[in-house]
Amino acid sequence: MSDPLRDAPEFAIETEALAKTYRTETGGSVRALNGVSLQVPRGSIFGLLGPNGAGKSTLINILAGLVVRSSGTARIWGADIDKQMRLARSAIGIVPQEVNLDAFFSPREVLEVQAGLYAVPKAERRTMEILEALGLADKADAYARSLSGGMKRRLLIAKALVHSPPVVVLDEPTAGVDVELRRQLWAYMRTLNDDGVTIVLTTHYLEEAEEMCDRIAIIDRGEQIACEDTPTLISRLDQRTLTITLEETLTRLPAPLIAFEAELSGERTLTFRFSPSRTTVGELLSVVQGLGLTVVDLATRDADLEDIFLRLTGMDEGDSRSAGRNDPQAGAAALARTEPKI
Ligand SMILES: Nc1ncnc2c1ncn2[C@@H]1O[C@H](COP(=O)(O)OP(=O)(O)O)[C@@H](O)[C@H]1O
Ligand SMILES: [Mg+2]
Repeated sequence: MSDPLRDAPEFAIETEALAKTYRTETGGSVRALNGVSLQVPRGSIFGLLGPNGAGKSTLINILAGLVVRSSGTARIWGADIDKQMRLARSAIGIVPQEVNLDAFFSPREVLEVQAGLYAVPKAERRTMEILEALGLADKADAYARSLSGGMKRRLLIAKALVHSPPVVVLDEPTAGVDVELRRQLWAYMRTLNDDGVTIVLTTHYLEEAEEMCDRIAIIDRGEQIACEDTPTLISRLDQRTLTITLEETLTRLPAPLIAFEAELSGERTLTFRFSPSRTTVGELLSVVQGLGLTVVDLATRDADLEDIFLRLTGMDEGDSRSAGRNDPQAGAAALARTEPKI
């Protein structure tokens, strides 16, 4: 990988109809991936978003060669993961979701062993440079077991970088980490990306996907439900909410407002869901004022990834998971399902 950009492919990763069914110990089966076709543009920060159990780690582990797919194909940096396994492996660095470090190895040893596994010649090793970049230089010779949780996570990233892969995949890099470390990890991912490395990260945090990723694929229960540039995904909803507080008390929705899909969400609160491409806030306000009503306050809200997620997964339509939808945290909590949102 001396010149990784030579013959660089258009897509850093490409999967086609990738599927996986696990056999369980009790003789049952779990369809973890059901035909996922993704294209990760070279140079992008790509988010694989979905709730716990969606199949994100399964997909990553197939790319890592840790899980054998049931059907479909996957290419990493143009190389088929089976037919050109060595090429595919050398192009990717994977940061696993679980911390899996040997407690008795020091960070320096962890990286040296990894470099050996990837046959990186001694002269080309960047052990200290990588440890420095991740703020671990002063811990180079400490036992891994003595590192804090955050340091271990950074060491896992360091480990994925020893063979200078053009594609780095991080599986839930920020799940359960504190705000400060999360900020550091985001900044580091950006630095890598600025250096031309394609980044793929899985997350169940909508906010993270929205802020970090150029392009997002959403999977839910093994099904791919979207794969688009982030702004396109968000604008796709073309949905905005206007909430108006009135001076007057209403017992029912005035008839002229029915046509505007207004809702009486409180005695003095009107909520409009509208498409900004077709209606303006001004138009809605004049309709309300035209009815002789007095507006004392108003608030607007753009659709965000959470709305898109809820709509695409059908979680906002009578699904038990949508319970408490009016609670602003409910959608995010539903997405996290079991893990608390930090
Ligand atoms: N080794 C396994 N054996 C059986 N089922 C598994 C195994 N690994 C994952 N699964 C199941 O596959 C589904 C997807 O899991 P996973 O890929 O870990 O999702 P995610 O990373 O999005 O949380 C889940 O239903 C999970 O229980
Ligand atoms: Mg996972």
